[in-house]
Amino acid sequence: MLADSFFREDVITLAAVDEGKLVGYGFVAVALDDADLANIAVEAKYRRRGVAQGLLDRLEAQAAAAGAKRMLLEVRVSNAAAMSLYLKRGYAGLYARPRYYADGEDALVMAKDLESVAAQGG
Ligand SMILES: CC(C)(COP(=O)(O)OP(=O)(O)OC[C@H]1O[C@@H](n2cnc3c(N)ncnc32)[C@H](O)[C@@H]1OP(=O)(O)O)[C@@H](O)C(=O)NCCC(=O)NCCS
Repeated sequence: MLADSFFREDVITLAAVDEGKLVGYGFVAVALDDADLANIAVEAKYRRRGVAQGLLDRLEAQAAAAGAKRMLLEVRVSNAAAMSLYLKRGYAGLYARPRYYADGEDALVMAKDLESVAAQGG
């Protein structure tokens, strides 16, 4: 899925690399005004060093440059780390999607206005 996303024109994909090794990635699908953060992940031993924040910064800037006005994402309600990251980055909860995941867990849909990101030039 990650490899395929690099070749899709409607998907912005970024990789974080340390000494030639993939340590994190994120990708965003852009459709008109909305961008959807499909996934972001950082290898366990590289966490809490700002890698995800750096990826998110660049993904938001590139999505805004591609014309998106809003970034949307779904996060598991139990995923405190991801939710903290998104809250810190200015995302706000919109609504819950009950039993969104295959194991029955609910998702929280979060969103961030990208127009301020575009105005700041990224
Ligand atoms: C969520 C994830 C991507 C965060 O990656 P990361 O590189 O560790 O995040 P950062 O270092 O950029 O953290 C930025 C901020 O997010 C918050 N945060 C990140 N991990 C956290 C944790 N475990 N507990 C609480 N807050 C956390 C903090 O506010 C942190 O800032 P600080 O370190 O200055 O306190 C990573 O934990 C991960 O890959 N998890 C598994 C995959 C996943 O759940 N992806 C999200 C799918 S919706």
